[in-house]
Amino acid sequence: MEITNDIRYVGVNDHKIDLFESQYAVPHGMAYNSYVIVDEKTAVMDTVDRRFTQEWLDNIEKVLGDRKPDYLIIQHMEPDHSANIKVFMDKYPEATIVSSAVAFNMMKNFYGDNYTDRRIISKEGETLSLGRHILHFVAAPMVHWPEVMITYDETDKVLFSADAFGKFGANDTPDDNWADEARRYYIGIVGKYGEQVQALLAKAGGLDIQIICSTHGPVLKENLGYYIGLTNTWSSYAVEDEGVVICYTSVYGHTREAALLLQKKLQEKGCPAVPIYDLARDDMHKAISEAFRYGRIILATTTYNMGIFPPMETFINNLKERSFQKRKVGIIENGTWAPKAKKIITDMLSDCKDITFCQNNVTLKSAMNAQSDAQLDALADEIMQ
Ligand code: FEO
Repeated sequence: MEITNDIRYVGVNDHKIDLFESQYAVPHGMAYNSYVIVDEKTAVMDTVDRRFTQEWLDNIEKVLGDRKPDYLIIQHMEPDHSANIKVFMDKYPEATIVSSAVAFNMMKNFYGDNYTDRRIISKEGETLSLGRHILHFVAAPMVHWPEVMITYDETDKVLFSADAFGKFGANDTPDDNWADEARRYYIGIVGKYGEQVQALLAKAGGLDIQIICSTHGPVLKENLGYYIGLTNTWSSYAVEDEGVVICYTSVYGHTREAALLLQKKLQEKGCPAVPIYDLARDDMHKAISEAFRYGRIILATTTYNMGIFPPMETFINNLKERSFQKRKVGIIENGTWAPKAKKIITDMLSDCKDITFCQNNVTLKSAMNAQSDAQLDALADEIMQ
């Protein structure tokens, strides 16, 4: 695939993967993107997952023909992009590898060699000339590992962005909603590092970018303000859409009944969106991304072994790991003899920044009754304010 006259796509699509990074469901597969810049010198941008070595090498050969690659530029050492460094360097003994100093330390640990006699250590602000193409290196620490160094081609105005602007899904599957799978990817994988992503966006703001080539997902060529704007929203923990997301667990269905009734009440009050997730059955990472999408969230769960029901505990810990903040939280607790979920949830979220807890929460002592129905009305009124 031609990106520009001189830049070609040589990545692969993965439809066999079950869980990305061994935890994220990817029903539409995954893409590991790699690119070749063809100039007086040739450069390969990143490698791909180790299960696709031969396909990737074949893709490079199809582009270069009899020519050999001069440079392998490694922007990020996570194995979905670095796994084929050794096979590449063995196959092309004349090639030079370009990466950050931190990446070369990781390379030795991962692959047993960091190529001290065949390498260029790239630093922030330095450039590499391929002939017509001048590549600028831009440090992007913690987007999403500390060694990340992204690359800007000033000639074709292409930003090779490593994991930034990536998404779940193979590139040969229908992609009619970039935002949903990009949000689930971003919040899941990079969500903790909003400050660092903001720093990268500030640097990118000084560049004339016409094309974004991420290591995952489609090449972005049009309407770049949309993608940059969403990434700015996510990394600043701002509210993306108006609505209330309800996340619940329920052992025998009574807490679920309350959650569904609250959803109905909110819809009747005109709330623009009230998505609801069963944390034991639905995709936990979709629910996590929705918690960051909307400004208001209801957490409904049971007291369990003097704690809270395990999927809810996991969910809240996932929010905290990703710097959950700037949200309004309402609670529905259930406990047949000693309800304490409300206190546990409040305590768990107490060290998150700018969390506003509703005053009108709901306590069920087993099942819904007139009193808890009235409490739901009060909670619905308050969360809608
Ligand atoms: Fe796609 Fe952080 O690796």
